[in-house]
Amino acid sequence: MSSDTQKTFFIETFGCQMNFHDSEKVAGSLVSQGYRQVQSVEDADLIFYNTCSIRDKAEQKVFHRLTDFKRLQKQGKQFAVIGCVAQQEGERIFERAPHVSLVAGSASYNRLPEMLVQIAHGQRATGLDDRQTEDTFETDFTARVNPHRGYITIIEGCDKFCAYCVVPYTRGRERSRTSESVLEEARKIVESGLTEVQLLGQNVNSYQDPLGKHTFASLLAEVGRVPGIRRVRFTTSHPRHFTREIVQAIDEVPTLCDHVHLPVQSGSSRVLAAMNREYTREQYLERIAWMKSARRSIAITTDIIVGFPGETEAEFEETLSLMDEVGFDGIFSFKYSPRPNTPALTMENAIPEEEKTRRLAVLNDRQKEIQRASYQRFVGQVLETMVEGARRPLGQLPGRTSQNKPLNFTLPEGAPEPPVGSYVPVRVTRAHPNSLVGEMCPVSTACVVS
Ligand code: 5AD
Ligand code: SF4
Repeated sequence: MSSDTQKTFFIETFGCQMNFHDSEKVAGSLVSQGYRQVQSVEDADLIFYNTCSIRDKAEQKVFHRLTDFKRLQKQGKQFAVIGCVAQQEGERIFERAPHVSLVAGSASYNRLPEMLVQIAHGQRATGLDDRQTEDTFETDFTARVNPHRGYITIIEGCDKFCAYCVVPYTRGRERSRTSESVLEEARKIVESGLTEVQLLGQNVNSYQDPLGKHTFASLLAEVGRVPGIRRVRFTTSHPRHFTREIVQAIDEVPTLCDHVHLPVQSGSSRVLAAMNREYTREQYLERIAWMKSARRSIAITTDIIVGFPGETEAEFEETLSLMDEVGFDGIFSFKYSPRPNTPALTMENAIPEEEKTRRLAVLNDRQKEIQRASYQRFVGQVLETMVEGARRPLGQLPGRTSQNKPLNFTLPEGAPEPPVGSYVPVRVTRAHPNSLVGEMCPVSTACVVS
């Protein structure tokens, strides 16, 4: 615990990039209130636990952890549970873990300063009741953790209500930030010395500029034109709102990374309809065709759920055939996990756990083969690589290509170690199913412009 009068906090984060970036903003907000961030539970007066409830038994895990923390209460520490489990479980958290002082969902983080005053006075604070807010959560100071990438939330919440997903219930309705504040934040990130930004939202391409100046695609292009920016990424896109304009922007603005993450979830139009995804297999493939006919070679990654209620073997095979047809550069694959409050929870014909496990293994094996073959095409190419960390014990440096592929590389004899966040040309020498390996070239070497 802190020895001086300045209160300290520790924050632990689970879940998606949105959650990690929320924690950076929550930390910034606490620092503005005079708190100091520390790196261990032991050193903290206030412990924040930023939770995720997208899959598995996340709620149980949170309650277990809180039970472990109970002994720390005797040392005068306070506990705050924020994020999706906080929003989902609400006041039940106080009942099951009475040592918790603050429970807040992401749509209430604007009110953190007043909630901190409440708990400092020994009262309980809750931020659960305003998910219908129009506000976005913005802070003057963001405690950025990532040493080479600045995250910018452009849209919060989700209005899509996919049948399996808790997000619309935990993060509330969609609300977009103004294009002016997004561009201002991009400029600030450049001033702070970073050259890579990632636009974030549960559904970035549903973006609606409250100023009416920009579409998602034109905002993306505008961020890419901010002086000093070298790489712009964005996640996550929804196929329903994925436009040709986005592909054109990637073709026209070289700083936009040649990578799109476009979750498909299933290759069967029947399952997609049951999931309430608002597109068919054919419409998804049409968007893929737009990307494949772009001038640049755009890497495409996706999310897939296996074992959604009622998914037949033939429908599962449609997902496999879609994977063959697209040739994804990477997938995140999940077994369907029943979530509280969602329509899929009460759907018939649940798929047994062993069958879900089998389908997941088949899917992952198939994808491994696809990547094993397709990553070979990079061997011999020189790719512009961002240095993402310091040299590891075995001599490799971790890097990443514009297409978002990890490219770990060695340095030629005697070459000085390039700093984190710099860009170097790397010749690819080997390909693994999930990453590339190479050696740095002299800085003047021309890179492949995809
Ligand atoms: N079960 C399994 N996977 C899920 N996802 C979201 N909700 C569930 C669920 N209930 C997956 C989707 C989404 C990714 C972020 O998590 O594939 O795109
Ligand atoms: Fe969940 Fe669907 Fe919204 Fe994505 S688009 S966050 S899967 S409801």
